[in-house]
Amino acid sequence: MNFSETGILQQEKVRIKNLLPDIGIEQARQEIIDGLSSKDPSISSKFFYDEKGSLLFEEITQLKEYYPTRTEKGILKAIAPEFMNRNRSFEIIELGSGDCSKISILLKAAERNMPHIKYIPVDFSQSAISDSANILSERYPELEIDGYVADFIHQLNLIPHSEKDRIVCFLGSTIGNFNKTEAKEIIKNLSKGILKNDTLLLGFDLVKPEEVLHAAYNDSLGVTEQFNKNILNVVNGIIQSDFNLDAFEHRAFFNPEQSRIEMHLCAIKDVEINSPFFEQTIHLKEGDSIHTENSHKFTRESIYELIDEAGLEIKRFHTDSDNWFALVEFKKKV
Ligand code: AVJ
Repeated sequence: MNFSETGILQQEKVRIKNLLPDIGIEQARQEIIDGLSSKDPSISSKFFYDEKGSLLFEEITQLKEYYPTRTEKGILKAIAPEFMNRNRSFEIIELGSGDCSKISILLKAAERNMPHIKYIPVDFSQSAISDSANILSERYPELEIDGYVADFIHQLNLIPHSEKDRIVCFLGSTIGNFNKTEAKEIIKNLSKGILKNDTLLLGFDLVKPEEVLHAAYNDSLGVTEQFNKNILNVVNGIIQSDFNLDAFEHRAFFNPEQSRIEMHLCAIKDVEINSPFFEQTIHLKEGDSIHTENSHKFTRESIYELIDEAGLEIKRFHTDSDNWFALVEFKKKV
């Protein structure tokens, strides 16, 4: 997260621009303060992803219990040759790009086509963007890279349109972090950002046996616990608060009514939190919790419902053999 510097890197084929200063640190602070002072305290899951958080998430994706990334990559591998077989130049926008391991699968299938591809990673984490730009520009010197450090939900419209065909990827089931109203709005906006020849590729984690879901968010090495608690460090950095990580316990469970995994940080004793930006000290009682993430799990029907009013049609619905994850290709309805 970098709310100050704007231009970060400028080379012949690689440019990275930081759009976060347009939002401003004040707005981030306000968002955090509003969340913490509400009746059911919460912190937006986007604040997981500082440099450490992004690395911890990468570690999560490699855990044996965490099936989503592995499963999605398997599907990506299977569809890549056909999906990337295009005869016009195109740009690939990847929202919430994180590390470059997913885009690498797609790019590998288009190895001979590099001069006609522009890769546009968009992520909240500056380190994630610059690390992937470094790796990819070394691997593919002819690939043009235009990275944006941005809040991809609110700043998507700031990414300039080119003449090229667009592929917009929103993978990893990150859409599952949002509630239904927000997710519908996001998908509508994504639809607005594409034209007739363009493609939208969305990843959705699917409903599956509860034990599998539970284990994926309660891993035996405790990496998810560290990831969850790290959000308090990020918040301490942004609002200069004094959260003590040891006063909280990681809690993750499946909520069947909402069809989602919820993550919380639960106070294991009474705690006081101070910040120069608070009007007054915040008090949490033992057992009170801060809601840090929702991770919705979808069915075919709930996916159809989400895109219902977005002016999109499903071109292809890809899943793995267990039906654990879906990668869905959409086109603009004409
Ligand atoms: C990146 C939002 C898809 O919800 O599974 C992983 C984040 N949280 N373990 C998810 C996450 C806890 C992840 N997403």
